[in-house]
This record gives sequence, C-alpha cells and structure tokens, in this order.
Amino acid sequence: MQAFVTGLPKVELHLHIEGSLEPELMFELAKRNQVAIPFSSPDEVRAAYQFTNLQSFLDIYYQGANVLLTERDFFDLTWAYIERCAADNVRHCEIFFDPQTHTDRGVDFATVINGISAALTKAEHELAITSQIIMCFLRHLDETAAFATLEMALPFKDKIIGVGLDSSEQGNPPEKFARVFAHAKALGFLTVAHAGEEGPAQNIVDAIDMLQVSRVDHGVSCVQDPALVASLAASRMPLTVCPLSNTKLKVFEHMADHNIIELLRQGVCVTINSDDPAYFGGYMTANFMAVAQALTVSNTELAQLSLNAIEASFISRERKLELSQEVLSYLQQA
Ligand code: HPA
Ligand code: ZN
Repeated sequence: MQAFVTGLPKVELHLHIEGSLEPELMFELAKRNQVAIPFSSPDEVRAAYQFTNLQSFLDIYYQGANVLLTERDFFDLTWAYIERCAADNVRHCEIFFDPQTHTDRGVDFATVINGISAALTKAEHELAITSQIIMCFLRHLDETAAFATLEMALPFKDKIIGVGLDSSEQGNPPEKFARVFAHAKALGFLTVAHAGEEGPAQNIVDAIDMLQVSRVDHGVSCVQDPALVASLAASRMPLTVCPLSNTKLKVFEHMADHNIIELLRQGVCVTINSDDPAYFGGYMTANFMAVAQALTVSNTELAQLSLNAIEASFISRERKLELSQEVLSYLQQA
C-alpha cells in the first residue's frame, strides 16, 4: 500500500505555502533575518503544535510566518515544498498564499509573489512539476482590506489564477466577501473558498451561490445536508479535503470517522490535500496513507482521488489528459 500510494501521480489543490514552513527552516530564517521567535529549538516548536480547533492553529501559524521577510525567504519556503512534491510524485500543485499576513507586516506584495513564483518556475523547468498560484483573503479582516489586497495584486495578475478565502470561518460567512469576489471574477480571476470546515453546510451553499466558486476548500460539513451532497455529486463541484488537517483540528476525532470515502462513493468530486503540512504531520503521501490505513479503500479508489484532483485543477485540457493518462497507466501496472 505504501509503495502504491507513494508512486501514485498526484495533484495538490489545497496547500497554504505558509503552512509548509518546517520548524527547521523557521529557525534558519529567524537567524538569517534576526527575528526573535518564542522557541529554543525546532523540537520545541513541534511540541507546541497541539491544536484544539482552527483558531488555536491559526494563532501559531500567523506567528510562524513572521520569519518570512525577503524574496529569498519565499523562494526557499516554496522550493522546500517543491522538494516534498517531487518525493511524493505530486505532478501539479495549486498553491495558496495569504498576502495580508505579509503586507500587514510591511513586506511588499511583490517580494512575496516574486519569491514564490521564481521557485515554481524552477520546479517546472527542472522537475516538470506544473503549478498555479491562488491568493487568499483573510476572512477575519474586513471587506475594505480584501479590496485593497485585490488592488495590490493587479500588477501581478499574470501570475495569479484565482482568489480564495481562508482563516476563521466561524463568524465570517461567505456573504461578507460577495462584493469583492464579484469584482475579482469581473477582473478574470477564478474563485475558490474555504467553507464547511468548522462552519455549517449553509456556508458551502453560500460559497457556491454568492461567491461563484469553482471549488470548495474542505467542504466536509456537506454531509449535514443530504440534498447538498446530491447536488455536489450531480454538479461535480470539487471538494479539496484535507484529512490530516481535519483530525489535527478536531473536525473529526479519528481518521476512521472521516467522511471522504463515503463522499467519494456517492459520486462527489473529493480530492486529498495537505493544507498546512508542516503543522499537521505530513504531505500528500502521508495524507493518502492516513486515509488508506484508517478506512477501507481500493487502489482504484485511491487513483480516482487523483483523477478527481486532475478534473478539478485549473490547467489546460491537454495537461489534464496527460496527467490522467499517467494515473491510469500507473494503476494498470500496479
Ligand atoms: N482553514 C482556514 N484557514 C487556513 C487554513 C485552514 O485549514 N489553513 C491555513 N489557513
Ligand atoms: Zn486551508
């Protein structure tokens, strides 16, 4: 099973680049940039990663991002993630970044996007790993701040395929960002949003109706509403599910309670993703393995999860066909 899962060609659609900051790199960057961090070793950082819910994670995650200051930092962060992609046979990835986490600390938008983008260009040239970049608005901040962030992104529009919505779901429903998403759509950005992670199924309905999303990030609370599950299956609206994140943040107590395979069997376009792998205990292969070990699942179903991610990705028809072919030949040889 481990060998099959490791070699399976994969596509990652839900990865916050700031959430791939491993404690070792956090220490290296803190030293390089002379930023004080409240830990004395990488092991101490790891020991602090005990979360009770989404907010308890976000507090630590925003603090960790303080060590990221220069274009080289964002390059190094992204390249370290790409090396994990190569090890896990991730063939294409779509990466979130949170501009406001950085611009609010005085780091320029250009510094962030240029660092990330340079590493992704190198990944395509040297490793044939393709990618897209999605910028997320922090939903605990207001609509005016989101509009200002959208404005800042315009000179870099050629590097950004879409906009997303992340941070604290409770108390910050999709409707808060309906106008900024409509504006982003009118400018030509695709849209996605975190919905139904800790929040109710209604947030998923509202993200689809009010934000016109092409995918729902997480979306696991859809099971509260059987009519919604049926409509997700009928429309093939993708859900970018993050199994290890969900158990770390207590959305599900145990992986055996997770609903991803049940949703897969109901025809929903579910996908497996790592969310914030440095914080939640693993990258793509680890997420696939956690599901495969806790739930009964066949190789064909594991391959279907990869095919779903290809279907849900923001890439050309040709690249989708090429990647689907890789998955199908891999399954046949297995
Ligand atoms: N949910 C909301 N915001 C986030 C997450 C998440 O899982 N990861 C990083 N920001
Ligand atoms: Zn997320």
